[in-house]
Amino acid sequence: MNLSEIFSQEHPMVDGVFIASDISEHENQIQTNEAFSEKWLKYNNEENEKQERLFEFQRNWYLKLYGFQSEEELKQYLEKQSVVLDAGCGLGYKAKWFADLSPGTLIIGMDYSDAVFAAKQKYTNTENLVFVKGDIADTKIIDGVVSYVSCDQVLHHTEDPQETIYELYRILCEGGELAVYVYAKKALPRELLDSYFRKRTKNISSNEMWKLSEQLTELGKRLSEMRKDFDVPDIPLLGIKGGRMSVQRFLYWNFIKCFWNANLGWETSVSTNYDWYAPSNAERYSQEEFLMMLSNVGLRQEFIHTEEACHSGRFVKD
Ligand SMILES: C[S@@+](CC[C@H](N)C(=O)[O-])C[C@H]1O[C@@H](n2cnc3c(N)ncnc32)[C@H](O)[C@@H]1O
Repeated sequence: MNLSEIFSQEHPMVDGVFIASDISEHENQIQTNEAFSEKWLKYNNEENEKQERLFEFQRNWYLKLYGFQSEEELKQYLEKQSVVLDAGCGLGYKAKWFADLSPGTLIIGMDYSDAVFAAKQKYTNTENLVFVKGDIADTKIIDGVVSYVSCDQVLHHTEDPQETIYELYRILCEGGELAVYVYAKKALPRELLDSYFRKRTKNISSNEMWKLSEQLTELGKRLSEMRKDFDVPDIPLLGIKGGRMSVQRFLYWNFIKCFWNANLGWETSVSTNYDWYAPSNAERYSQEEFLMMLSNVGLRQEFIHTEEACHSGRFVKD
């Protein structure tokens, strides 16, 4: 299948990237795109070896999030697909992974940020992989031509996640599947801080935001280095779950995102904190709210996964 059979119109090309849509009409989506352009283009300068460590971690996590027992199982799954959309592909490493696993499948990586240009530059010579700058809530793709949409860690950043799901449903063929992930709601104190802070995000310069992300990383690092575990009591009305945990995890899940992972290193940890607080659009959901958005459009649940940070799953268009 070639691109003219997939998109409803011809798109101009800039630096090898098809431009389906360049700018949003929504203030928060514009800010979100700018935050991710900033994040990814900066992270793209990180040493390859450190980037690869994150990408490896992400690929393994992907298998777990969407119910693939192994990379081989994902490969066999992708080989049955004709067209795959990596909806919100960021730096494109998952789109590239899919393309390598299944050379007979056309993989489209779409993102609304400038990260797509870096992705295209990095993965120039993969014939079955194309990058498109565009809004996954208005893909300009013809009805029913995509057999697998992977929307990993993106939906909650779109302007109206329910509308985005309608759009992804529209472009799926019968029997096609949507793999999708959303942030989970956290304990009340953390939710209050996150919501309050995000209203102000638009007025904070990217320099200040990077500085904040470094400070939060330093906080997470120092708390981790305390190596102190303790027994947290259950406080159900505030959504605080009891159990044995470190001081860093207790504060992280219940009060403030202060990510630190010694294995992934400083830059990746800073970038993870930036990713959390910088975009204006970053909705959180209970599992029930997540499943409701999918059943509202008529998608059938094939696989569901929930962990502290997120809900994810694969959903079929019958
Ligand atoms: C946390 S990143 C995840 C990137 C990638 N899926 C991954 O797993 O590495 C979220 C991405 O969603 C993109 N995004 C947010 N809203 C979007 C929209 N409406 N259309 C396309 N991409 C969007 C951002 O630009 C960003 O690259």
